[in-house]
Amino acid sequence: MNDIENYLSSNPSDDIAKDLLNIIPHFEGIYNSTNRTFKELHGSFLFDGKQYKYLISEIERQKLLYQIAKKNNSCLEIGTNIGHSSLIMLIANPNISITTIDIEPQLSKLATDYLKKNFPNSKINLINASSPEILKKINNKFDFFLIDGDHTHFAVFREFKQILKMSKDTKVIRVLFDDLDMVPIMKKSMKILKINDFKEANCPGGYSSYYEINTEKKIINSMRFIVFNFYNTIFNSFSYFKHFLKIILGEKKKIALKEILKNLKLIKN
Ligand SMILES: C[S@@+](CC[C@H](N)C(=O)[O-])C[C@H]1O[C@@H](n2cnc3c(N)ncnc32)[C@H](O)[C@@H]1O
Repeated sequence: MNDIENYLSSNPSDDIAKDLLNIIPHFEGIYNSTNRTFKELHGSFLFDGKQYKYLISEIERQKLLYQIAKKNNSCLEIGTNIGHSSLIMLIANPNISITTIDIEPQLSKLATDYLKKNFPNSKINLINASSPEILKKINNKFDFFLIDGDHTHFAVFREFKQILKMSKDTKVIRVLFDDLDMVPIMKKSMKILKINDFKEANCPGGYSSYYEINTEKKIINSMRFIVFNFYNTIFNSFSYFKHFLKIILGEKKKIALKEILKNLKLIKN
């Protein structure tokens, strides 16, 4: 018995889990297609990035992504990795059209080639590039977005600003963030926006959160977006400055500078 079959023996009426059983042969198929390699420490909706083993502990995140993909026909995904999140979407909706972006070319290409071959009714378009830059060049519109690439505030905020212009639906934008808790300022400031629907799944391997954001052009919503952007832009300037200091000073000099600032009582620790 595999882990999902075990789960089903205690949750026999869970229809999504029944469909997720179809993941298992493809999870192995993808691994064979990448010559049994993966990028260490790049976890996914299906495994932890340390050992190639399907994780039942992540089933609530898998179910959340499944439910969103079932209801939508096109997705822009940031963070292909080895195609595990794409696989969940394809199991939910074999006709889905996925544009998926990853900065790493090799494994993402092998995995998406496998998915294209095994889900011939879908449309999968892999773009190997860095997301905040490439998003500006994509003219298509999408039903929903999965943001699971570079988890820094600097990247996620820029990605989010770009996708706001890319929703097919003129009244809402549907976005599933993976690990938004690694970007606490973004997570907090999402509350400023008008949210029609919110769902979350908190699992040992990650936290996924889904927002359906109201984008109707009413004055009150525009105001919310202005506050949201202002808040995040300020924080991003700090992140950018910290990044810049790291580059020009190097780690040791940065520690020395911190000591000086502490002695001058300009910072606490
Ligand atoms: C956590 S993994 C994605 C997991 C995948 N969504 C899944 O569940 O199967 C993050 C991926 O984002 C990619 N990535 C990191 N920074 C990126 C960037 N700036 N642009 C595009 N991809 C990026 C990494 O190469 C990595 O494959």
